[in-house]
Amino acid sequence: MSKVTQIAHPLILHKLAFIRDKNTGSKDFRELVEEVAMLMAYEVTRDFQLEEVEIETPICKTKCKMLAGKKVAIVPILRAGLGMVDGVLKLIPAAKVGHIGLYRDEKTLKPVEYFCKLPQDIGDREVIVTDPMLATGGSAADAITLLKKKGAKNIRLMCLIAAPEGVKAVMDAHPDVDIYVGSVDEKLNESGYIVPGLGDAGDRLFGTK
Ligand code: PRP
Ligand code: URA
Repeated sequence: MSKVTQIAHPLILHKLAFIRDKNTGSKDFRELVEEVAMLMAYEVTRDFQLEEVEIETPICKTKCKMLAGKKVAIVPILRAGLGMVDGVLKLIPAAKVGHIGLYRDEKTLKPVEYFCKLPQDIGDREVIVTDPMLATGGSAADAITLLKKKGAKNIRLMCLIAAPEGVKAVMDAHPDVDIYVGSVDEKLNESGYIVPGLGDAGDRLFGTK
């Protein structure tokens, strides 16, 4: 069963308020999305395994903890997921980055795949899928299905804002995937937008509307 973690940290909620504000322009929107992604990455990686290593300080030898085992892949769902990548990379600079291109058909709201390029050893990596918006959940669920087909085994999903419908859809389709969100909002509207949400994340990030 998926674990759903709402990361209601004061700094995240404060920055989300600016992100949601329709008067926030693309430059600030981009910076804030990156900052929130960095803050969320702290929680998303909380259960990463550690191992004991011996190092030598200028004073003496000592035992310390370092990250053990699996390497990380960050996989943004294009386009809007791209806005979260640099924030996560700030905390995990050695991570590799894969890309999955999906857009939501405006009429059917069904995701359409147009690109997929992943690290070759994706099956050996802890995969963090990024997308600011989890609306119907179709895009995230399809991206995760694609990742599994390509061999990924350990996948977690990180979104800024989710609708309850999207959380349920991903949980139902992928009960092995943990979901991390900044906020679970009220609902979807008749056009499939999250209410209150933040509008169209891709357009606001890249200034395309
Ligand atoms: C947005 C968003 C998600 C998707 C969420 O992308 O970034 O990928 O919609 O909707 P869903 O949960 O109902 O599938 P969009 O399709 O607008 O593409 P873009 O990022 O290129 O703007
Ligand atoms: N995609 C977005 O960018 N925003 C929404 O509210 C829903 C889907």
